[in-house]
Amino acid sequence: MTNNYSKSFSTDKQALNYENREYDENSYSSVLWEFEKELLTTLITEFRHSTGGQSIDYLDFASGSGRIIAYVEDKVDTATGIEVSPAMCAIASKKLKHGKLICTDITLPDAAIEKKYDLITAFRFILNADPELRTIAMKALSLRLKDEKSWFIFNNHGNPFSVKLMMWPVHFVRQLYKGRDPACNYLTNAQVYRLAAAADLQIIRVIGYGFLGGRIAKIFSKTLACRIESILAKCPLLPVFGINQCYVAKRITIPGNAKRSS
Ligand SMILES: C[S@@+](CC[C@H](N)C(=O)[O-])C[C@H]1O[C@@H](n2cnc3c(N)ncnc32)[C@H](O)[C@@H]1O
Repeated sequence: MTNNYSKSFSTDKQALNYENREYDENSYSSVLWEFEKELLTTLITEFRHSTGGQSIDYLDFASGSGRIIAYVEDKVDTATGIEVSPAMCAIASKKLKHGKLICTDITLPDAAIEKKYDLITAFRFILNADPELRTIAMKALSLRLKDEKSWFIFNNHGNPFSVKLMMWPVHFVRQLYKGRDPACNYLTNAQVYRLAAAADLQIIRVIGYGFLGGRIAKIFSKTLACRIESILAKCPLLPVFGINQCYVAKRITIPGNAKRSS
């Protein structure tokens, strides 16, 4: 199985690098994180409302250093993080108040379903994962959705139809240099829809964000960059050109249940 991505954060150095560099206070990722926090709050409030206020069992897949689960754990009733790297789990465990972490690989063929969830998130995973791992992970997560009302929120941070297109030649050479398939640095909406469909998932909403890109965002203060990103995300038609595309998906069929969701 081509599953290199599952080993890419296995050392303490790699985990700390992600935690300290990717989300450095002045990084572009930290600008987008401000937008994502608001987005997650809005979506979870809406999800709770849509289920009539029932309790929410939540899973953050590929929880990494705990960025998403640490933010969401107070907004749900139970919170579980699943992460393959013990080094990442060690960082995440320091941030959690009551969420629990499971350090395991649910994409392995013999992995049992540990629990089903009302709400699942997976951020910064689908794009980075090897193509085969993407498909397997989407199916594994789809099977963990409790029922047709459950939501799976995930993102693709490599939409080629964005400011990223300008950097395509640089990214192409860099990926080749790293011995990776250059196409894996980008994922179109159409590809994501196909991945979702193959996992019996129906995408019910797409939210686009991340318009400036790291180089342009650096021209502004972080506060101003956040403000610009937030304004652009509200402009009609523009969101399809966001580097990041966040998807809300529901399961189409639940095994043993013939009913299809509308
Ligand atoms: C770029 S990090 C994203 C972390 C977190 N979701 C975030 O948005 O900050 C991707 C994470 O996916 C994890 N990962 C890779 N393969 C995995 C697998 N098969 N099962 C669980 N986690 C996996 C990596 O160890 C890494 O921590």
